[in-house]
Amino acid sequence: MYFIANWKMYGDLKSLNSLNRVIKFSKKYKKKKIKIIYCPPYTLLDSFSKKLKKTKIELGAQNCHYEILNGPFTGSISPTMLKKIGSNYVIIGHSENRLAGETNDEINKKIKSSIKSNLKVIFCIGETLIQKKRKLTNKILHQQIIKGLFKIKNLNKILIAYEPVWSIGTGVIPKIDDLDKNITFIKNVLKKHLKVKNPKVLYGGSVNSKNVENLVTIKAIDGFLVGGASQKAKNFIDIVEKTII
Ligand code: PGA
Repeated sequence: MYFIANWKMYGDLKSLNSLNRVIKFSKKYKKKKIKIIYCPPYTLLDSFSKKLKKTKIELGAQNCHYEILNGPFTGSISPTMLKKIGSNYVIIGHSENRLAGETNDEINKKIKSSIKSNLKVIFCIGETLIQKKRKLTNKILHQQIIKGLFKIKNLNKILIAYEPVWSIGTGVIPKIDDLDKNITFIKNVLKKHLKVKNPKVLYGGSVNSKNVENLVTIKAIDGFLVGGASQKAKNFIDIVEKTII
């Protein structure tokens, strides 16, 4: 089970203290199959990397440029830079970036460079509320997967995070039946069209320590991408505990 903390544009050096509790917790559950990954903003990657060095908790970034090494791209960070700073994962295609104009084509280029840089990719997909209402969810998910993963070979290095856009930061989660169907649909696209043997699909969108008990009844879910509720150690630990018990 994957538990990914997406801190978005939150956190400063003081927030590092909240890691102590999570590190202690992770030692307690060493034998269970839990993978905790923290994705803080770029400014904290170095401090997190040092702090997490001798722990089982891994580090990820929230985005990167598609240029693999370096170049004249003011304000951008390359996958190689992320790898060098100790990041093993990167989130790509988050709806907040898609909304700001990121295209499937750009996402595809970013995924390619990230994999070449030996990063694992947390690839976000999901439909908007209008698309859901128009019953376009399957079509959109299919399109995002096929375009985002076009001509990518190491698909075992990719975790899909299914995040319905209307569920992010709203406190609203999908109906369990619908979510089950959508996760299964995503896994089938990956198996049938892209020949992925054992696809991993996470859910993200308003996950908290209360609703996770319900969400975890869906057998096909391989973990959670948690935004707001990951910023406080207690909330994040509660989510992990309630899932694994
Ligand atoms: P949320 O964010 O848990 O705050 O809804 C999830 C995400 O955007 O990854």
